[in-house]
Amino acid sequence: MPRLTIDGREIEAQAGQTVMQAATEAGIFIPYFCWHPKLSVPGNCRICVVGVEDKGGEWVEIACNMPVAEGMVVFTNSEKVKARRKATMQFITLNHPVDCGICDKAGECTLQDYHYEYNGERSISLDAKVHATKHYDLSERIVLDNERCIQCTRCVRFTREISKSNGLGMQNRADHTLVRAVEDGSFASDPYSDNVIDICPVGALLSRSFLHKARVWYLKPTASVCPGCARGCAVNLWHRRPEWKLRSAEQRVHNDEIDRVTPLDNPAVNGPWICNKGRDLARVFGRARAEGAMLKGRAADLQGAIKQARSLIAAAKRPVAIVSSWGSNEELAAFKAALGGRMTAFVKPDHQPEPGEVVEDAILIRADKNPNTAGARALFGDAAPDIPKDADLVLVWGEGFDFGRIPAGAKIVYLNAWLQPENGHADVFLAVSIQTERDGHYTNFAGVTSAFSKCFAKPAGVADAEALFAALAGTAGGGE
Ligand code: SF4
Ligand code: SF4
Ligand code: FES
Repeated sequence: MPRLTIDGREIEAQAGQTVMQAATEAGIFIPYFCWHPKLSVPGNCRICVVGVEDKGGEWVEIACNMPVAEGMVVFTNSEKVKARRKATMQFITLNHPVDCGICDKAGECTLQDYHYEYNGERSISLDAKVHATKHYDLSERIVLDNERCIQCTRCVRFTREISKSNGLGMQNRADHTLVRAVEDGSFASDPYSDNVIDICPVGALLSRSFLHKARVWYLKPTASVCPGCARGCAVNLWHRRPEWKLRSAEQRVHNDEIDRVTPLDNPAVNGPWICNKGRDLARVFGRARAEGAMLKGRAADLQGAIKQARSLIAAAKRPVAIVSSWGSNEELAAFKAALGGRMTAFVKPDHQPEPGEVVEDAILIRADKNPNTAGARALFGDAAPDIPKDADLVLVWGEGFDFGRIPAGAKIVYLNAWLQPENGHADVFLAVSIQTERDGHYTNFAGVTSAFSKCFAKPAGVADAEALFAALAGTAGGGE
C-alpha cells in the first residue's frame, strides 16, 4: 500500500491507483473535465494538474493519469498549480462562448464553476473566437452545441466503453474538432444515448425534451425507482420546487409534473446509468388519470364505492384476485394481510414489452417490464394468473389484464390509476394513487430492494391502495 502526502495530509492509497483516485477517496478535491470514474483516462483536458515535489523543485503533472508512488508529495493548490490551472482555463475558454445565461447546464456545469473559481478573467486572446454550429441535431433526443464542446471525449468514450454502440466520434482537428454521430445511425438507436447528456461536463449535449424548460435551481430532485423494467434503476425525478409555483399563461406549467429524469448512482443496481426509457418516465406518469370511483361505469363517491366493493367481496364464495406487479412491497403486504386469506391471488405483469423497445440486453434492460414482480411473487407465488370457471368475483389491481378472461357473471372489482376503457366495465371501480404520490419499496429481479418517495399530492377522489385493502376487507373504515 503506497503512502503519499497530499496537501500535507498522509494518505494510504491502493496499489495501482492514480493520484486523482487516491485524492478523491480521501475527500481531497482535484478539478477534472475529461476524467470520469467509469470511463478510460484520455488525459486531454489538463485541468487536473497537481504539483509533485522533486529534487529539482515542484513539477506539474495531470492527476488523473499519474500513478501513486511510495513517498510522493503532492500539492493540489500551490501557486504553481493555480497559475497552470488558470492558464488551462484560459485555453479551454479560448473559443468557448461562456454563454451561461442561456445555457441549460447553467447551475450544474463544471466549466462555469471552474471558470469563476480558477480563472475569473476575460479572455486574453486578441483573436476573435472560432464559431461553430450552435444547434446540431445529434439525434432525435439530443441537441449538440458545438461552441460549448471542450473535446473531452467523454461522450465518445461512453458509446465505445459502456453502451458499446460506437455511435459517436470526433471529426477534424484542433479548433475545428466536432463531435459527430457516425453515419450508420447506431447513436440514434442507442438505448442508453441520453447518459452522454449527464456526463458532458459542459452544456454541449442537451436533452431535447428538457431544452429551455426550466432553470435547474427552480427544480428539486426526489429519489425514486424506475418502474420501466425489473432492473428497478435508481433515479431522480426532477420537478418544480413547491415554493416556485408560477402563475403562467401556459397551461402546461404545473407544479405536479416531472421535468426531467436523471440516474441516481446505485452501485448495487444501475451504477450511474439508466436507459432512455427511464428518461421518459414523465410520459408514463403523465398519462390521463382515473380520478374518481365508479359503480358500473357511473361516477360514484369513494366511500359509497368502497362500501359496495366490501359487500361484494364479503358475499363472494369463490373470489379471485389478480395483483399488480407495479404495486409496492407495502401495498402487496397490505393486500395479503387484509384479503390474502379470503382470495386466491395471482401476480400479473402490468406491462409487456412494446413494439420497437429493446426487450433485454446485457447492460441494464430486463425483459420483464414491471418493477416489482419479485416482490409480488415472494408473497403470492409465481403461478400464471388462472381464473377458475366458477369464480364469482374477480378483483383486478393494475393494468394489462384481459377482462375477457373473467367468467361471465362474476362480479368485478377493479383498482387502477389510469383512464382506461376497462374501468367502466367493473361493478366497482376504484381510482388508486401512483408511484409519485406515495412512498414505498420495490424488489428488483436480483432481490435488491429500493425505496421511492412521494413528490406530488394525489388527486381528490383517489385512494392509496395500501389503505384501501383494509377498508375492502372490513378491517378499517377509510381508504383515502
Ligand atoms: S460534447 Fe460534451 S462530453 Fe462530448 S466531447 Fe464535447 S464536452 Fe465532452
Ligand atoms: S433499465 Fe429498466 S429500470 Fe433501468 S431505466 Fe431502463 S427501463 Fe428503467
Ligand atoms: S481530468 Fe485529467 S486531464 Fe482531464
